[in-house]
Amino acid sequence: MKILIVGSGGREHAIAHSASKSKRVDKIYCAPGNAGIGMIAECVPIGAMEFDRIVDFAREKEIDLTVVGMDDPLVGGLVDRLEEAGLRAFGPRKNAAILEGSKAFSKELMKKYHIPTAAYEIFDSPGDAYAYLESAEFPIVLKADGLALGKGVLICQNLEEARDGVRTIMEDKQFGTAGNRLVIEEFMTGREVSVLSFVDGAAIKTMTSAQDHKRAGDGDAGPNTGGMGTFSPSPFYTEEIDAYCRKYIYQPTVDAMAAEGREFKGIIFFGLMLTEKGPRVLEYNVRFGDPEAQVVLPRMKNDLIEVMEACIDGTLDKIDLQFEDNAAVCVVLASRGYPVSYEKGFVIHGLERFEGQDSRFCFHAGTRYSGEDIVTNGGRVLGITATGGSLGEARKNAYDATQWITFENKYMRSDIGKAIDEA
Ligand code: AMP
Ligand code: GLY
Repeated sequence: MKILIVGSGGREHAIAHSASKSKRVDKIYCAPGNAGIGMIAECVPIGAMEFDRIVDFAREKEIDLTVVGMDDPLVGGLVDRLEEAGLRAFGPRKNAAILEGSKAFSKELMKKYHIPTAAYEIFDSPGDAYAYLESAEFPIVLKADGLALGKGVLICQNLEEARDGVRTIMEDKQFGTAGNRLVIEEFMTGREVSVLSFVDGAAIKTMTSAQDHKRAGDGDAGPNTGGMGTFSPSPFYTEEIDAYCRKYIYQPTVDAMAAEGREFKGIIFFGLMLTEKGPRVLEYNVRFGDPEAQVVLPRMKNDLIEVMEACIDGTLDKIDLQFEDNAAVCVVLASRGYPVSYEKGFVIHGLERFEGQDSRFCFHAGTRYSGEDIVTNGGRVLGITATGGSLGEARKNAYDATQWITFENKYMRSDIGKAIDEA
């Protein structure tokens, strides 16, 4: 079959890599893709939000399955558009993608269906938000309602910071219309873990756990980024925690969406905080995480496309989802200065070292061709992933492989996966 992947990051490279191993797949296209994806797929210069062009392309090439990797097109309704054109697509429809598209929606859903999460209030006007803060406890968390490239969450230590935050989100509209509504949430402490799952509308199968490192600098210092590295599995995600989440979080979320007339098919990514009182939902995403996909997918034994088709067909209960009994670590190689300001266009050397490797992967995020060369084309440039028998071994393998690559202004964190030493 012919498949089309929509997106251009490391996550889409990991999806393309798994899809290329599927016995069902003959040809992969990616819109718009990047230089690394271009080595295993045919990249087409169509943006992820150009819905008309994506639908036309899928029709013209008789694409059998379109996999939407990114949040924006999912929340914007790309899957609905493809289905209206009689095409098969993997990912939630617009009325279900709201689970990520609106934090106010997801909080109301969790409250209504008693899914454990932080206490919160929703505000439509800055005046009401300022008034609420007067008697609030700190630290407190402010969240812009809509999509904000993962940057719409502010943790405020005191009243002054919180007032500034309300102004930034609701009045200065730093995140655009995402800030029309505001969620103010109780601050929680604990370890964070990401659990991704396949959902077919009724059944849910969770994947192995992972943990992201969101801050730019070592020791979790510096600004929030799209993610500087991941490891999988999380040693903090015990069987006991898994049993609790299955009972109170995973299936209840799928059932809640169905009960609301918003049948969910695709990926649900549960961002969890393991608090003293038990696991709590921090956020939902409706797609693979980036860079979580880069450590989860290489460990998956199943044929990815077969599982995706089962989600669409409502036959997920027949799939025996299995993961290797190993570990993986992904270290992001970024451009120095990311996420604030950085330069692009530097030639990347050493990529050929990854050819033919089956336990070390170089997933491209921000790269493009410049003549014969592959050059940096974004803040996050590459995700160097390695597997190993243990997390420690995977981490050593991944950091060794980061040395194979050179480019000007190369920057990475040196402590990805270090927390596992405490486990
Ligand atoms: P989100 O985009 O909702 O995942 O939030 C980004 C990050 O902010 C999370 O990964 C957490 O580190 C942090 N965060 C979000 N909500 C809370 C909360 N209620 N308490 C503490 N930290 C939070
Ligand atoms: N790594 C976090 C995310 O994909 O949202």
